[in-house]
Amino acid sequence: MNILFIGDVVARSGLSAVLHSMERLRKQYEADFVVVNAENAANGKGITEAIYGRLVRAGADVVTLGNHAFAKKEILNGIENCPLLVRPENMEPAGAGQSFVIRRCGTKKIAVVSILGHAFMNAATEEPIPAMQRLLPEIRADIILVDLHAEATSEKILFMYQFHKDVTAVIGTHTHVQTADERVFEGCAFISDAGMCGAYDSILGRDIDEVTDSAVNKIPTRFQPAKGPAVICGVVIRIDDETGRASSIERIQIRPS
Ligand SMILES: [Fe+2]
Ligand SMILES: [Fe+2]
Repeated sequence: MNILFIGDVVARSGLSAVLHSMERLRKQYEADFVVVNAENAANGKGITEAIYGRLVRAGADVVTLGNHAFAKKEILNGIENCPLLVRPENMEPAGAGQSFVIRRCGTKKIAVVSILGHAFMNAATEEPIPAMQRLLPEIRADIILVDLHAEATSEKILFMYQFHKDVTAVIGTHTHVQTADERVFEGCAFISDAGMCGAYDSILGRDIDEVTDSAVNKIPTRFQPAKGPAVICGVVIRIDDETGRASSIERIQIRPS
């Protein structure tokens, strides 16, 4: 079985690239299951029910979020209508939505879990390891994939060593910069960061002039997303159908031509 994981979708540029490419990517990588992190899909921060619907109709089996999960408040009203949407376990409001979803894929049950990192992450209400330890006994699935939404590579690597026997994949998100440390450790696929789907000429998906005005010229800006063509980043995880353990992980990075 192959799982395609697509990294943080940023704004219109990233969303339209992902919507247009998902079917092609699914075929190209023979993906049986597709997970999309869409925490930045709505104009750079958050998600709406409409965007969730478009991603699911395009072929996403599960949509994950991150520290910007509830940046668009309207999603809190409609979250019960989004059964395939996963919000981080360790952030407020604790009662909104679900932090893991289990779906059948062939003969296997796949759980997709969302956990926030704690280092340099203001939104986290709990460190990721105790949050996962608390959640793990509730998850009855053959394959568990964790979207670990975190800033610090060390925290993500530590998490993988803590839980590699319990889960099939720990996929880092949030930094928007794809790392080259993908590996399989004792049947657990890992990468510190899958990267983003957003404007290639940008600063993490944000408009370069806006970030420059804010950071260099000290002019307040709204950090608007950049508009140009998008890079698509993610990974494909190959899983042994017998054991439910990962056999390989491959980075995907499709730059605009
Ligand atoms: Fe993000
Ligand atoms: Fe994030």
